[in-house]
Amino acid sequence: MKNALHSFARVLVVISLWEIEVLCISDARLIQGTNANLGEALQFLREYDNEASQMCFRVNIARWNYATNMTDHNKRRMVEEQMHKEKFDKVSWKKAIAFDWTALSDPMAKRHLKLLVTKGRASLSDEKYNEIYHLISEMKDTYNHVRICPFNNYDPKFCNLELDPDVETLMAHSRNPAELIHIWTEWHDKTGPPLKNKFMRYVQLANQAARMNGFSDAGEQMRYVYEDDDFGHELVETWKSLQDLYKQLFTYVRKKLLIRYGSEYIRTDGPIPAHLLGDLWAQDWSKIADILLPYPAAKSLDVSEEMLKQGFTSLSMFQMAEEFYTSLGLKSMPPEFWRHSMFDKPNDRKVQCTASAWDFCNGIDYRIKQCTEVNMEHLITAHHEMAHIQYYLQYAEQPFLYRDGANPGFHEGIANAVILSISNPIHLHRIGLFNNSTNTFETNTNFLMIMALKKVAYAPFAYLVDQWRYRIFRDGVQNMNSAWWDLRLRYQGVVPPAKRKEQHLDAAAKKHIPADIPYINYYIALLLEFQIYEALCNAAGHTGQLHNCDIYRSREAGRLLG
Ligand SMILES: *[C@@H]1O[C@H](CO)[C@@H](O)[C@H](O)[C@H]1NC(C)=O
Ligand SMILES: *[C@@H]1O[C@H](CO)[C@@H](O)[C@H](O)[C@H]1NC(C)=O
Ligand SMILES: *[C@@H]1O[C@H](CO)[C@@H](O)[C@H](O)[C@H]1NC(C)=O
Ligand SMILES: *[C@@H]1O[C@H](CO)[C@@H](O)[C@H](O)[C@H]1NC(C)=O
Ligand SMILES: [Zn+2]
Repeated sequence: MKNALHSFARVLVVISLWEIEVLCISDARLIQGTNANLGEALQFLREYDNEASQMCFRVNIARWNYATNMTDHNKRRMVEEQMHKEKFDKVSWKKAIAFDWTALSDPMAKRHLKLLVTKGRASLSDEKYNEIYHLISEMKDTYNHVRICPFNNYDPKFCNLELDPDVETLMAHSRNPAELIHIWTEWHDKTGPPLKNKFMRYVQLANQAARMNGFSDAGEQMRYVYEDDDFGHELVETWKSLQDLYKQLFTYVRKKLLIRYGSEYIRTDGPIPAHLLGDLWAQDWSKIADILLPYPAAKSLDVSEEMLKQGFTSLSMFQMAEEFYTSLGLKSMPPEFWRHSMFDKPNDRKVQCTASAWDFCNGIDYRIKQCTEVNMEHLITAHHEMAHIQYYLQYAEQPFLYRDGANPGFHEGIANAVILSISNPIHLHRIGLFNNSTNTFETNTNFLMIMALKKVAYAPFAYLVDQWRYRIFRDGVQNMNSAWWDLRLRYQGVVPPAKRKEQHLDAAAKKHIPADIPYINYYIALLLEFQIYEALCNAAGHTGQLHNCDIYRSREAGRLLG
């Protein structure tokens, strides 16, 4: 063990990798046509708005039907609708690029056309367009079907551990380093290599699409949605402002891990092996709070038992969430929400249990899907998902292209800002779930530590995933795996617990890579979360320490949030 660790452990030195390039995209270089007739542009956009809303409704109904009832039939229906939508997107793109949109005098028309022409991959030929979406769907399928073997048992009969919940639970609960290495390695060995070739072809096609749109590569196209020429620099600056805090947390955690596991596994001055942090990606360290809390004996803030004692149900949890928002003066949930949402895991069929909030794009239908259990985590999730619904309701009157977060990190930033208020001891006391007569310095410090283990620990990971992807799109697919580990060492200070080679593709251990889902939005959301929370607390007239702020019943905070 010791040797294995040492040969792969590199000390935490600053590697002079590429820095994020400065962005300066002149719109003139983006694709556009010659039609400068404003009347025709507005006519096209009206039609688009109408058709896109209907298309969105149909696709989301089909996706919902599958997610809440996973039959082959429902999957086929969903795939059909998604193919319709892809065709529709391509046709709309072709119509949009006929306009000389940069020359239009109407700023709204100009922006709508810009959003339409710069999104997506419709610039590819039909054949390549189908190919890239086919590749992504195959990569997702491959990822979703990965099953690993339990520790010390390679009998194929037992090699059926799934990511959620088996693998995640083992990473969170096992404290046996040998078992953790096994799980970690199995997962990484079985996710990356089977899809590496497909991923390389995907990179090629994504870049072709971006270049035909006028971008230098697909990474530039991904960043363009932020409409911020200084985006790259801003990212660098924000990370600079966070990294000292991260290093303090890192050093504290390393010391606790050293006490727990000994110098056989942890070096006093080196990086932390990625398998010991309670999470496959070392992104959320709160799962090993038992090792890390400064006051393990202090009263826990977990109110799950109290919830059970008070007879909470999934329905009453959502009613409590609704009451939180109406106490701020925000909207109540529409009747369709209560009629069609899925609050409980059904026992007569297979469903996707990941909690999510849905906008069916018709201004009427909004739903949450959650396999709710009566506990504190799920109570917080219910509030989180309902924040998304509140956001949907707030922009329901906007044109289709604006019915989304102000930037790709905004939705999550809003939802999590509210959660900072919900989950603190002050709020839990006010809603009668936490008796704060025992609210001590120790309890509070543990609360803040758990927050740090979730949020501060996550920052470098959220930051680096797309740094890696931008790099691949910009510099090509050689040395993809060593580039991944360079970034993980540089920003997170973690190293792989087993030997890695170029045949591996360890970034693909995270679903967002094979599934073609952007990641930097989670980093942006993390920053926004605290900025929005602080602004809401100021509006609510909060004084004193920020983590004690609860915006419950503050109309002023509600107005600002709205
Ligand atoms: C699930 O979907 C099937 C179609 O595949 C349908 O026949 C069935 O009624 C659905 N079940 C529920 C509970 O909606
Ligand atoms: C797992 O296998 C290793 C090596 O074969 C052995 O030393 C260890 O005792 C086994 N552990 C368990 C829990 O079976
Ligand atoms: C809160 O705890 C204190 C001390 O343990 C106890 O005296 C009091 O009755 C409790 N209050 C409630 C509302 O449970
Ligand atoms: C308990 O909560 C009440 C009301 O929120 C507050 O006034 C009081 O100071 C709190 N007590 C402690 C010990 O935190
Ligand atoms: Zn969310």
